[in-house]
Amino acid sequence: MCGIVGATGSSRVVDVLLSGMARLEYRGYDSAGVALVVGTPGEEGAPELTSLWRARRAEGTKSVADLAASIEVPEGIVHAGIGHVRWATHGRPDEHNAHPHLDCTGRVAVVHNGIIENFATLAAHLVDEGHRLASETDTEVVAHLLESRIATGESLTGALRAVIALIEGTFAIAAVHADDPDVIVAARRVSPLIVGRSDGSGLVASDIPAILGETREVFSLDDDHVAEVRPGSITVTGLDGRTVGPRPMTVEWDLEEAEKGGYDDFMSKEIREQPTAVADTLRGRLSGDGRVLLDEERLTISELREVDKVFIVACGSSYHAGLVAKYAIEHWARLPVEIDIASEFRYRDPVLDSQTLVVGVSQSGETVDTIQAMRGAAEQGAKTLVISNVVDSSMARESDAVLYTRAGPELCVAATKTHLAQVTALQVLALHLAQVRGSLYPEESAQLIEDLRSMPARVEEVISRAPAVSEVAGAVAGAKDFLFLGRHVGYPVALEGALKLKEISYLRAEGYPAGELKHGPIALIEEGVVVVAIATLRSDLLPKMLGNIEEVKSRGATVVVVATDGDGASVVRADHVLWVPPVPHSLFSPIVDVVPLQLLAYELARLRGNDVDRPRNLAKTVTVE
Ligand code: F6R
Repeated sequence: MCGIVGATGSSRVVDVLLSGMARLEYRGYDSAGVALVVGTPGEEGAPELTSLWRARRAEGTKSVADLAASIEVPEGIVHAGIGHVRWATHGRPDEHNAHPHLDCTGRVAVVHNGIIENFATLAAHLVDEGHRLASETDTEVVAHLLESRIATGESLTGALRAVIALIEGTFAIAAVHADDPDVIVAARRVSPLIVGRSDGSGLVASDIPAILGETREVFSLDDDHVAEVRPGSITVTGLDGRTVGPRPMTVEWDLEEAEKGGYDDFMSKEIREQPTAVADTLRGRLSGDGRVLLDEERLTISELREVDKVFIVACGSSYHAGLVAKYAIEHWARLPVEIDIASEFRYRDPVLDSQTLVVGVSQSGETVDTIQAMRGAAEQGAKTLVISNVVDSSMARESDAVLYTRAGPELCVAATKTHLAQVTALQVLALHLAQVRGSLYPEESAQLIEDLRSMPARVEEVISRAPAVSEVAGAVAGAKDFLFLGRHVGYPVALEGALKLKEISYLRAEGYPAGELKHGPIALIEEGVVVVAIATLRSDLLPKMLGNIEEVKSRGATVVVVATDGDGASVVRADHVLWVPPVPHSLFSPIVDVVPLQLLAYELARLRGNDVDRPRNLAKTVTVE
């Protein structure tokens, strides 16, 4: 987590940093800080004097705004600068732990995202050598290690190459040095980092929206490559010092797409963008001859046909989307599917071989647990496929096949439109696998894709019912405990509904398969508990869910039922109903059923006065384990 931005050669370095940091706040908002290389003319024709100037704030969710409002940039030319928003890992989220961190001379400044696992050993050596460490962070060692290398005559770039060779763990680092005023150096390992340039300026950032207002000429960095960013030029070298070409990235988003566009917050904007996200994800998925298409497929049809088992790995909301896919792939492609939380998959000993397809689901394509799970799978010879929202993300570059969700940038920490787009993309994948394996006739899979195309209108319809959801939210606003129950694909919907609610409202919320109710959770049911039951089920499962509703109702729960329009039988025992339109296939129902639950979470969080875009303790992209 944490967000990094750097700018050099621009007449507006400070603005570029602050607006980039505001766009990166979803990655962390414990504190914010900038370091600038400022030049002042020397007296009577003497050379310019350069120095580092730093400002930091730790005002929680207002850090960037506070920094922007309160800093007074010193007189002189601002050659370059680096900025950082922090999600604390090592050291309390206060000002002295806020980045950028400086070396002992105060002429080197560093920002970092990731975790330096051997920082305690490195710090002990540095202290023995006489360095004074001023913070509790792992990051600060980098500034002092750079200082030591620079003292031996190395350039900043050479010093960073040497330093990253000493570091164990994950990092995205950017550094500036007052002696080399126009240069920013940057490097990454696992944690995301991109570099960009435009008209005499150079840029560094954790992700594309942070610098989208400045350039669309953006490049990705590979692990352990070091970029030297100067005004208008970028040179990338490997650990051996040899130049490697920076890799251009495709930038599909507009700045406008990354801004709030008149909504109070990103979450409501992104919920309302869901019909477009689903429609765009389906765009161009059928060839003229009815084949279902992915975006990048570096696997042959015969290789895919050999696949005899699928694993899905993901975290959080992406995991819930993956759960829906398990039902879809097993049903349509008749392939056995196992699904794992990525951090668990990594550390167990899954049985994989060249006939296994491992599908990673990740909005960012940068979540460390999922990246490492996918890398582990590739090392064992499995085929890998990623569902990513970010084009050219680390996972997309490293996988054998890619299917992009085209949801546009999602800036609210809680996933909404990317989750719906993932569910849609995974349905497309299930149909692709079914076609390749011949488990569906081509016309059947083509028809199902056509049916999927009716989903955006149905999602639009659910969103138009937001006022009814507000009323339900008002009615249950006093409750502290929520239990979400679902069966079949309603189960992942229940998990996602509970996750959204706990993330942004901080209320206790659990999701359960309804069949498990009597195996434990029913003990929690009493007056005041709200049970949200997803009852848009196949007809064979619906009576069972109605039985569960009866069980919780008779024990005093307040029951909110998600039901299909016109299905009076399902709502007889409901205190409140969230109606959704019917869908052409029961496997598509999560695409509409989750929407009222997103809206319910949103309304309850707003009623509690919470910042829905930046929930406490969370960060958008989890780049540390
Ligand atoms: C929930 C949420 C998180 C993410 C999870 C995975 O609202 O946003 O649970 O889904 O951190 O992130 P990605 O999809 O980027 O791998």
